[in-house]
Amino acid sequence: VHQWRGVIEEYRELLDIPQDTPAVTLGEGGTPLVESRWLSEVTGGQVWLKVEGDNPTGSFKDRGMTAALSVAVHQGAQAVVCASTGNTSASMAAYAAKARIKPLVLVPEGKISAGKMAQAIMHGAQVIMVRGNFDDCLKISRGLAEHYPVALVNSVNPIRLEGQKTASFEVVDRLGDAPDFHLLPVGNAGNISAYWLGYRQYAELGRSTRLPVMRAYQAEGAAPLVTGQPFPNPETKATAIRIGNPASWKLAESAASESGGRFASVTDEQILIAQRQLASNDGVFVEPASAAGIAGMLQDLERGESYADKTVVVTVTGHGLKDTVTALEGFGDVVDNVIDANVDDAAAVAGLV
Ligand code: F0G
Repeated sequence: VHQWRGVIEEYRELLDIPQDTPAVTLGEGGTPLVESRWLSEVTGGQVWLKVEGDNPTGSFKDRGMTAALSVAVHQGAQAVVCASTGNTSASMAAYAAKARIKPLVLVPEGKISAGKMAQAIMHGAQVIMVRGNFDDCLKISRGLAEHYPVALVNSVNPIRLEGQKTASFEVVDRLGDAPDFHLLPVGNAGNISAYWLGYRQYAELGRSTRLPVMRAYQAEGAAPLVTGQPFPNPETKATAIRIGNPASWKLAESAASESGGRFASVTDEQILIAQRQLASNDGVFVEPASAAGIAGMLQDLERGESYADKTVVVTVTGHGLKDTVTALEGFGDVVDNVIDANVDDAAAVAGLV
């Protein structure tokens, strides 16, 4: 039986990191590529979900974090810092704990989900809440890393992308070639940049015969890559992608244009509907931001786009349990089904009689 060894040991020679770097790993990567029977039926294509919520801390961030932490520790770092909408901080805190170095986290006050906050705290991070948004937090993190002995592990650190690009490798390894389309949500734009790096590298190595068209989706209230302008006050219920000025803006634009792809925005309502449909139709529960790619695909279909006979991979970036509060909004009636302890009342409420 082959035990997955984490993305550094699985792909070490393909990663642009010092090759003698010992891996700080929690066994990340090797996530399921699951066919969405629902979306395959709806599109007439073959739609696959790259289920990144199955990573150790529940999001794709672990791929980049194993790389960033491994290199930082190898270079002697005693402390790491990041700005985050929640998942990066959860991941960084876990890998810092594993490496036994100090995690310092900056998050927008009141705008990260309880689950993600719990992760950072449980893993021993010092969490600083900033009266401001993610973009403000990133500025502070950069400033701290510039002036103090702490290593910055946001995706502006190129090592993060080296780890994250392994998701593309896994897709191609599994499908035997790159898909026709790759759809995903975008916030700070590190992930789309990393996927594109990975797909290009595999094509150059001859491990795939083609490159996918990259289509990326932002929340309407935080859609700078769609409008071409930073959003000074980004707002969306999909808090993970509540970002107004993505750090990897240029790289993401290259990925979209070189691949013949594009950016589009979807409303919070579309995101929450897609999240619920994915959970109830396919059994895959993702957090709101993670459903942006699904919402985007449904919107493309409504607008007359076709995915018929195409192979499509949609990355769902983080686990639904990250944010149960948002998931349960609108389900008050279901949660309030309280009865006395007898079969008749249960049968009545269940509509069985
Ligand atoms: N989906 C989820 C669940 C995320 O947490 C993020 C980013 C994205 C999508 C967008 O990825 O930034 O590479 O374009 N979360 C970061 C964080 C910003 O701090 O956890 P991106």
